[in-house]
Amino acid sequence: MLSRTLGQSGISVSAIGLGCMGLSEFYGEPTHEADAITLLHQAVDLGVTHFDTAEIYGQGHNERLVGNALAAVRDKVVIATKFGPQRDPATGAFIGVDGSPANVRRSCDNSLQRLGTDRIDLYYLHRVDAATPIEDTVGEMAMLVKEGKVMAVGLSEASAEIIARAHAVHPIAALQTEYSIFSRDVEKDVLPMCVRLGISLVAYSPLGRALLTGRYASAADRPTGDNDFRARMQPRFQPGNFESNLALVEAVTAVAARKGCPPAQVALAWVLDHGDHVVAIPGTTKLANLRTNLGALDCHLTEEERASLDALAAGVVGGRY
Ligand code: ATR
Repeated sequence: MLSRTLGQSGISVSAIGLGCMGLSEFYGEPTHEADAITLLHQAVDLGVTHFDTAEIYGQGHNERLVGNALAAVRDKVVIATKFGPQRDPATGAFIGVDGSPANVRRSCDNSLQRLGTDRIDLYYLHRVDAATPIEDTVGEMAMLVKEGKVMAVGLSEASAEIIARAHAVHPIAALQTEYSIFSRDVEKDVLPMCVRLGISLVAYSPLGRALLTGRYASAADRPTGDNDFRARMQPRFQPGNFESNLALVEAVTAVAARKGCPPAQVALAWVLDHGDHVVAIPGTTKLANLRTNLGALDCHLTEEERASLDALAAGVVGGRY
């Protein structure tokens, strides 16, 4: 599988990784444990080397799952995890972000324990803590690197200014953010800053949280249910907005039909064609979808196709969150 290097860390990952969140939470019921482990093993067998989790996914469940499933191949894979956002242990409600040095250390030790490993390959601040200077947070993350607990430092959903300030304290290997045909706001400031500083962009939700895969044919297919956060709180998935956005997806499915490849591959090719500094971590809980997604490496867009897709983001109704 095609590999790309994360920033200047020297860490090489498959250009298409696996976003593991959906195995535990947020897109409906968690996947049955045995099936989730099987899927993670299949991903390894198919050449995926980049696995993305976070402390908050399933409130520890996802890290335990990923650590357990990948234990036997630990040295062959890159495990990325994240800290910062705080949840009420009883309700799961989000109650703030803690980027304090004390929490950097506490969270790292807890993640290492849940992952069952002695090091985190890529450790991200998941969301920026407005109450803690980024220099303090990243300064402590740099200490973890010195101690060998963390191999590389990342940020998620940070502004260009925060990225530059963080990078001045310790090299940032990766900036993770939502990036897709439908979410291009990072192109304005964030992506240029990453390019300037030699930081990789790790694109999450590259499939528009499934919208861009063409799996939704009509309003009746809108994800629903209390355990699907798209239904609960994502503007783009609310009634009315969803239908408008589905109409835009038709342009993606039309390009896909002409090329003879699935829309998910077109969506991923659009992300990956931006250059070697971009990798994608589509999430899936199913082998068939994983195979489809990995097939995107053989899908390449023409200038004309790209231009027709570039125009879509401006028409998307509803913010990202
Ligand atoms: P995130 O990064 O937040 O996981 P994403 O990668 O844009 O978001 O999209 C993930 C969603 O796309 C999941 O709901 C996933 O559902 P499955 O677990 O059922 O696969 C869906 N998805 C991923 N790959 C897909 C594919 N090839 N075809 C259809 N749906 C897909």
